[in-house]
Amino acid sequence: MNPAIEFKGVTKSYPLYHHITGGLKNMLLNLPKAVREMTAQSFVAIEDISFSINKGESVAFLGRNGAGKSTTLGLIAGVLRPTKGSVQVNGRVSPLLELGGGFHPDLTGIENIQLNGVLLGLTRKQVAEQIKSIVEFSELGEFINQPVRTYSSGMMARLGFSVVAHLDPEILLIDEVLAVGDASFRKKCLNKMQEFKQKGVTIILVTHSAADVEFLCERVIWVENHKIKQDGPRSEILPLYTASMS
Ligand SMILES: Nc1ncnc2c1ncn2[C@@H]1O[C@H](COP(=O)(O)OP(=O)(O)OP(=O)(O)O)[C@@H](O)[C@H]1O
Ligand SMILES: [Mg+2]
Repeated sequence: MNPAIEFKGVTKSYPLYHHITGGLKNMLLNLPKAVREMTAQSFVAIEDISFSINKGESVAFLGRNGAGKSTTLGLIAGVLRPTKGSVQVNGRVSPLLELGGGFHPDLTGIENIQLNGVLLGLTRKQVAEQIKSIVEFSELGEFINQPVRTYSSGMMARLGFSVVAHLDPEILLIDEVLAVGDASFRKKCLNKMQEFKQKGVTIILVTHSAADVEFLCERVIWVENHKIKQDGPRSEILPLYTASMS
């Protein structure tokens, strides 16, 4: 059986920007050399990462800020391309990546639901059929008719998750959005993810909450310094990770 996600020797690097030395005039006079110097250096966000995730697994990516977790999810979602190596994804991906990332600030909550629903693969008809349920799930009340730029981060997370909860994913990617939700909404989201899991959806969760990992994930991939430090059963890896953080 094909794995749902397979990374083979994946590196993602970004060009490194640094200060112009020797002044702007000097740089312009020696432009080819200056450009060569500026683009030669790059910053490695993840380096030579390999792993394979089977259909129906629920996996947590843990690690310090800047370790490379969101980069990994971006590669799975297809919004980033690897610099080296290969990324294979088999299945329909529903991503909930950075907070408010897919929203247009000047559109209302309702309008953003319509836009996002279609962008994430629903037909207009499906969006129309589901919209009442999406709004109810979000519990945003009257705010659903306000432009999203007026939303708090928790309200933004509610809107984003409510759309994703109504999709039909094979692979669900959730990057930390639960962190800003209040306790009751977090619980609702975790239960929804549990429901997806029971249906056999592959779940990839990035979180800093050990409790969320306990609740949802059987496997932990611990990313440190842009590489995989540990990959194994939650019961083994989570205590090691928690201990290293304190
Ligand atoms: N567009 C970019 N350009 C340059 N560097 C980037 C870019 N995106 C990420 N990076 C760098 O890549 C590294 C990994 O970033 P990433 O966002 O994957 O970390 P993370 O593990 O998700 O961290 P956090 O827990 O803070 O969300 C960081 O050092 C970051 O500065
Ligand atoms: Mg991140």
